[in-house]
Amino acid sequence: MTGKQTMSKGKVNALLGIVFGDEGKGKVVDVLAPQYDIVARFAGGPNAGHTIMFEGRKFVLRSIPSGIFYKDRLNVIGNGCVIAPDLFMQEAKELEQAGYDLKGRLHISLKAHLILPTHRVLDKAYEAAKGKNKVGTTGKGIGPTYSDKASRTGLRVGDILDRFEEKYARLKARHEQILSDLHYTEYDITEEEKVWLEGIRYMREYTLADTETELNKALAEGKNILAEGAQGTMLDIDHGTYPFVSSSNTVSGGVCTGLGVPPSSIGEVFGIFKAYSTRVGSGPFPVELFDDTGNKIREIGHEFGAVTGRNRRCGWLDLVALRYAIMINGVTQLFMMKGDVLDTFDTIRICVAYEKDGVRTETMPYDCEGWNPVYVDMPGWKADLTGMVSADQFPSRFSDYISYIEKEMGVPITIVSVGPDREQTISR
Ligand code: IMP
Repeated sequence: MTGKQTMSKGKVNALLGIVFGDEGKGKVVDVLAPQYDIVARFAGGPNAGHTIMFEGRKFVLRSIPSGIFYKDRLNVIGNGCVIAPDLFMQEAKELEQAGYDLKGRLHISLKAHLILPTHRVLDKAYEAAKGKNKVGTTGKGIGPTYSDKASRTGLRVGDILDRFEEKYARLKARHEQILSDLHYTEYDITEEEKVWLEGIRYMREYTLADTETELNKALAEGKNILAEGAQGTMLDIDHGTYPFVSSSNTVSGGVCTGLGVPPSSIGEVFGIFKAYSTRVGSGPFPVELFDDTGNKIREIGHEFGAVTGRNRRCGWLDLVALRYAIMINGVTQLFMMKGDVLDTFDTIRICVAYEKDGVRTETMPYDCEGWNPVYVDMPGWKADLTGMVSADQFPSRFSDYISYIEKEMGVPITIVSVGPDREQTISR
């Protein structure tokens, strides 16, 4: 054989929520995980709640990647994530009790930032100070932790290995000073702090690693990685409905910074969305329904937050948001979730544009507050999708709905989900 032989490198495929989160990422990662050597989280923290159901059991993962249920896969919490030691310990112990031993196959980046109990107090204090302009955060301390990261005052996982107590005391004192300046004094973290410090000790039992090098080495060996997104594009700190957003880059660009992998390593970008729209927390949401239809979607879709239990705001599918997210992320395949939730509706509406003061737009405005949806109506399929196991069983009206979205978006829908179980996931 002549010529230079190059070993084919592995790829990082990204799975991203492309609207306001809660699209069902956990379920899809769980289904895709067997095809990958590594599943890695690259942004966010315990504000996420990835639900996975199989064999009649339900798990909600917050910080731990959804590949954890396949025992021979490596799972990584990347440098772009923030991690709360107490919640991590609780989540990990629950999984251990359910028979999933994580140690050795869950690696945590030394560069991921730590959420302190006082970050959570600050989250509440900042929200309280905002009055009616509240973001409606999950209260998990996400914003203050990423703020400390940007201010270069944060604590990282690597810090727990060296003079931790001293560093912790310094940052805690800084937070206490800020809280005192805000006149926010009604808090008591004594008990919470005990559990948190126990969480720090517990985390030391894990592989705290230079995960950037590990991931790049794996790619060089031809291994494939699934980057599991959190939240959604419309909650991205740069590209979402600022300031009503989370504090990390949830888009495909965040995979590179949040895992330390080069752009050339990115392969497919899977964009996950629901057959309708939801949003938790405050902020503009042009397709929001305030009527019985919205309530019906919420009831049938069980649209209550996995982390906070809050009611999710509901509406029809928004193609303006989808088009924008496909552009920002470079989505190559779409996955549509929860099609079955619309089974009983006579008419299904799709928002194809926004309109305000006689102006129509199909591209996302700088601020989508005050814009009204322009709908196209389609007849409902009025059939039970939940027992279907292949796309040729779909009623023609449901297939028409899928084809319409594909044609408008110019991206194929390759997975359709028709129920919460692993088995109710159909490839096309
Ligand atoms: P934070 O991420 O807790 O700071 O919350 C900022 C905004 O993002 C709030 O509107 C939250 O409701 C929303 N948010 C954060 N995480 C999620 C998620 O996993 N799903 C849906 N919304 C989320």
